[in-house]
This record gives sequence, C-alpha cells and structure tokens, in this order.
Amino acid sequence: MVKKTSAPARSHSYLRFSFADRVQHLAMLLSFTTLAVTGLVQKYPLNAVSLFIVRLWGGIENIRATHHVAATLLMLVAIYHLIGMGYKIFVLRHRMTMLPSLQDVKDAWMAFTYNIGLGKSRPQMGRYTFEEKAEYWALVWGTVIMGITGFMMWNPLATVKLLPGDFIPAAKAAHGAEALLAVLAIIVWHMYGVHLKRFNKSMWTGELSEEEMLHEHPLELADIKAGIADRMPSAATLRKRQMIYYPIATILGLVMLFSVYGFINGEQTAITTVPPQAATIPVYVPETPTPLPPTPTPLPSPTPPAAAEGTQASSTSSTWIQVGPIFAAKCLQCHGALASGGLNLSTYADAMKGGKDGPVIVPNDAANSKLFIVQSAGGHLGQLSADELEVIKEWIDAGALEK
Ligand code: HEC
Repeated sequence: MVKKTSAPARSHSYLRFSFADRVQHLAMLLSFTTLAVTGLVQKYPLNAVSLFIVRLWGGIENIRATHHVAATLLMLVAIYHLIGMGYKIFVLRHRMTMLPSLQDVKDAWMAFTYNIGLGKSRPQMGRYTFEEKAEYWALVWGTVIMGITGFMMWNPLATVKLLPGDFIPAAKAAHGAEALLAVLAIIVWHMYGVHLKRFNKSMWTGELSEEEMLHEHPLELADIKAGIADRMPSAATLRKRQMIYYPIATILGLVMLFSVYGFINGEQTAITTVPPQAATIPVYVPETPTPLPPTPTPLPSPTPPAAAEGTQASSTSSTWIQVGPIFAAKCLQCHGALASGGLNLSTYADAMKGGKDGPVIVPNDAANSKLFIVQSAGGHLGQLSADELEVIKEWIDAGALEK
C-alpha cells in the first residue's frame, strides 16, 4: 500500500513498507541467518570455522536444536506472509505488483544493454523492479525447497511411506546445495542491490523520498500522482470483505499451524548424538579391504620384530585382524578416504605409512607412537575407549603385526 505521509514543504516521502512488513522482514532475516550459520557448520563439519562455531555453541546438539527453532520461526513467518498477502489481495484489493510479467524480461534486457553501454536509457519500473521480483521469487522457491527437504529429513518415517528411502539422502543433498545457493544469492544479489548500489534503508524506515521514487519506481510514482495507485476501499466495503476474509484466514491459519506442529513433533527420529558408552559394543563394523580369516596357528612373521624379547608376543598377541575393525568402527569416518591429517587407517599398509609428519605407529614402542600418544591424551575427534586403547597398545608393543 502506498500513501502520502505528512507533507513537508519540499518533498514528500512515500510509505513503501508498513510496520508489519518490516517486522516480517526482520523475523525472516534473523531466522535465515541463524539457519545459514547452524546449517553450514553441519554441511562442512570438519572445517576449522565450523569446529570453532560448534564449540562456541556448546556442541552439535545445541546447533541442531537452534537450527530447528529457527526453521520453525521461518515457517511461522511464511504463514504470516501468506495470510497477510491474502488480506492485501482479497480485502484491500491491491494490485498484484509482485507477479512476474513479460515487461520484467524486457526491463532486464534494457538494464543489461544500458549497463554495457549499448542502450540509451534505463528501464522505467513500477512498484517492484525486476531485480526485486527475482529475489522475492527466489526466496519463495528456496523456502519451499528447504521446507520440503527439511521435512523429509525431520520426518523420515512419514517420507518413506510415500517415497523410496533413497529420497532421504537426496533430500539432504538438495537441502545443503540450496542452502549454499541461498546464502550466495543473499551475499551477491541482495547485498549488491540494497547495500552497495545504493544504501536503501526503506526496509527499516519504511519510506522512500520523492527523488528515490522518481529514480527507482517512476511508474509507481506516476500512478500515485494520477491517483490510480492502490486506494483504501470505503469503510463499508472493507468491513464487508473483512467479515468474509477473517473466518477463512482463521481456518487456513489454524490448518497451517497444526501442520507446523505435526512437522515438528511428528517423529522422534531426528539424529542425535548419544553419549559414549562405557563398554564398547561393536554394533556396526564395516568391512575393511584387508581382513583375512584368523588362522588358528599364526605363521611366524617373515621379518621378526627387533624387540621380540617378550615370549608372549608370538602366538597370543593381537594382529591387524583384531585392531583393524576397531579403527574401522572409530576412525575411518575421517581417516578413511578422507585421510584427515594425512592419516589413512583403512588398511594395514596405509596405517603403517602414517600421517602428514610420517609414521604414527612405531612397532614395539607404543609410548613413542603418535597414534597412541594422540589417543591417550583423550578428547580426539574420534576417541577410543580405555579398553580399545589397551588392545591397540598391546598390539603395537608386540610389534604391530599384520598377521
Ligand atoms: C571426526 C573426525 C576424526 C575421527 C573420527 C578420528 N580422527 Fe584422528 N584426526 C582428525 C583430524 C581432523 C586430524 C588432523 C588434526 C591435525 O592436523 O592436527 C587427525 C589427526 C590424527 C592423528 C595425527 C596424524 C598426524 O600424522 O599428525 C592421529 C594419530 C589420529 N588422528 C588418530 C586417530 C584414531 C586412532 C582415530 C580412531 C580412534 C581417529 N583419529 C579418529 C579427525 C578425526
């Protein structure tokens, strides 16, 4: 809605965004930014900045909870927006100035040719320029995608009733990629459009000056001057339309609020991080490329370890067959193909090769093996239990044999 505010002598200012619009923008800004921060650290969990933020936030569980709260806020903003839009369209009968049109394509082309020095003039635009419409619809589209894929991850059981299970990892990929796109769009398109090109404060003050209107929205200004821009309906008409709209909006609003409630509380399946167990039960032990069936009587190693003074080292000591699965369960997430710190623990040969600074396993000398040192210091990103560490220590002290 556009109306003239108090008329100072020199120039008018025009109301561009109502107070409600501005509050809505602020709520969206807060939820979007929170979602971006708490989401990107989950998309890039090993990045140093992510690790810093997760620690600052008090752990991954807090990050997830915050992400969920911000997502809920964004859903509420979307509901408010829909109800408010309905009011503007059906009760106030505002023109739908945000709808894209062929004119926008022409304006975009004209702006482009003008910018590269071929066109003679800039496009004359109305209430919303083609740049603003592009951003608005990108936001709508992005919110729909994030809502749907977010729902699929938040409610996997409901999802697999309708779709194959493969859709859940696909939803995760789409959620992360769309997030990155949205953040980049804000940084590139929005920052440029309203902060760099000209610092446009109308989303905070609500107003544009006559000069700004003339420069950026000349067609709208012309409509206002001609008295054909949106006008308030008469009090009686307004009342009549409100009587129809309010009950409909109430029902729609309640339906949407219940949907959001279901979205949030439908399932208790969202991933959580369980505290480490005292005793380790190998629940899932992925296959490593090397393990061979344990031989009942292990053959003596072709090159006996130098410090084989201990007699217990030969037949009863553990080998890669015992320790490989421990690494597989606790370390391969980062020290597999990813090789964090240059260290790959997938196979015996890889493990013996060591990390970025050379070997991390010194046969017969656990106390001087970096792997043992790192793990006994505790607090590593993947931490062995005391029992597991004991197995590793015995294995190294007995020569770190493959078999
Ligand atoms: C969540 C990821 C993650 C898991 C799980 C993990 N680590 Fe690491 N680890 C890292 C990262 C990242 C580094 C590199 C840190 C650095 O450069 O300071 C590292 C470094 C190391 C190093 C030092 C490598 C070198 O050459 O400097 C050792 C040894 C190590 N990890 C052992 C283990 C063991 C053993 C396990 C399994 C019990 C394990 N890690 C599980 C992330 C992980």
